[in-house]
Amino acid sequence: NKGNYEHYMQKEIHEQPESLTTTMRGRLIRGGSCKAKTVLLGGLKDHLKTIRRSRRIVFIGCGTSYNAALAARPILEELSGIPVTMEIASDLLDRQGPIYREDTAVFVSQSGETADTLRALEYALENGALCVGITNTVGSAIARNTHCGVHINAGAEIGVASTKAYTSQIVVMAMLALAIGSDAISSQIRREAIIDGLFELPSKVREALKLDREMKDLAKLLMAEQSLLVFGRGYNYATALEGALKVKEVALMHSEGILAGEMKHGPLALVDENLPIFVIATHDVCFSKQQSVIQQLNARKGRLIVMCSRGDASSVNVGGSCRVIEVPQVEDCLQPVINIVPLQLLAYHLTVQRGYNVDQPRNLAKSVTTE
Ligand code: UD1
Ligand code: M6R
Repeated sequence: NKGNYEHYMQKEIHEQPESLTTTMRGRLIRGGSCKAKTVLLGGLKDHLKTIRRSRRIVFIGCGTSYNAALAARPILEELSGIPVTMEIASDLLDRQGPIYREDTAVFVSQSGETADTLRALEYALENGALCVGITNTVGSAIARNTHCGVHINAGAEIGVASTKAYTSQIVVMAMLALAIGSDAISSQIRREAIIDGLFELPSKVREALKLDREMKDLAKLLMAEQSLLVFGRGYNYATALEGALKVKEVALMHSEGILAGEMKHGPLALVDENLPIFVIATHDVCFSKQQSVIQQLNARKGRLIVMCSRGDASSVNVGGSCRVIEVPQVEDCLQPVINIVPLQLLAYHLTVQRGYNVDQPRNLAKSVTTE
């Protein structure tokens, strides 16, 4: 049931304030006067000790689920102090990469049925790792075959392009980081700030959704383009990859997410007056580096669209004439949840304006059950 929406993807983008609320329901405990704010993940509470003792945490997934894990990686590293590595499921299998008994392998999958991820799970089980699932589908193969896990509870996702599952996956993995780190006194203030950030996230996402009109106008401007680059770094490298994935999979426009730190190592050669470049430059520890990236792109007359935190418009548009999109600011590690929203809206409107099938892009299936 699409309700008042024309497409499932549109509905699922707009229902993110509600899906995020459901994801967090019963799992965040706001302290009273003396009680600290904490996270409770029922499916993991008996396994946290084992996870804390592991030598490494390996995230495994495909497509959007991989990107969500990439977005959560920095906060997991920060709060757990455990090395976190990333594996695309098919690539892990192609390489038969090392997985050890001392590893915690986290399988991220909306459907819980993706063949590559499921094969990688079998492989990690054979190698003796603790296998944790993060899935949206109760009773799915990944939920059944992992040792433990967390359901993201985002509600059924119908559009082939994953949207609300992505933001709920990030939130669950941020909560995973909080749960693993919950015994560390040194990070208590940071953890409480993140929990406060989680509480205000649905309303901030609702604010970000008000950019719909602006993104529709931007889509009109870009609809005839051949290509769109998306630059991000730090917490928002994943946003760049995921934004580009949305644009290519539904709007059928070439798009590439680029790690801004790699700009001078190749991508800079592409910059001219014609190619549109979307730069994510919201306020975090990477901000000044991102300002200098913008400056260098401007110096080469790049056609920039810059996403920045509200109030930062004048400090990102240094010496240029770029189009600026301002988004609400949240705790840095949660910012990817906000920043993906305008890009989801852009991909959606580009698809409608280019006349393509929004909910079932050509050649793609919602659940990829063959390798
Ligand atoms: C559970 C109930 C929820 C109830 C809540 C009340 C289910 C599915 N969930 O939620 O309805 O409101 O208790 O306390 O009955 N698991 C895996 N792999 C996965 C995902 C989950 O093994 O990929 C396991 C978990 O370890 C756990 C169980 O499935 O044993 C349920 O997980 P989850 O729904 O996340 O647990 P709760 O949030 O506690
Ligand atoms: O169900 P999963 O999360 O395991 O699916 C993984 C990918 O197939 C999926 O995210 C795909 O990339 C989406 N179509 C992206 O929108």
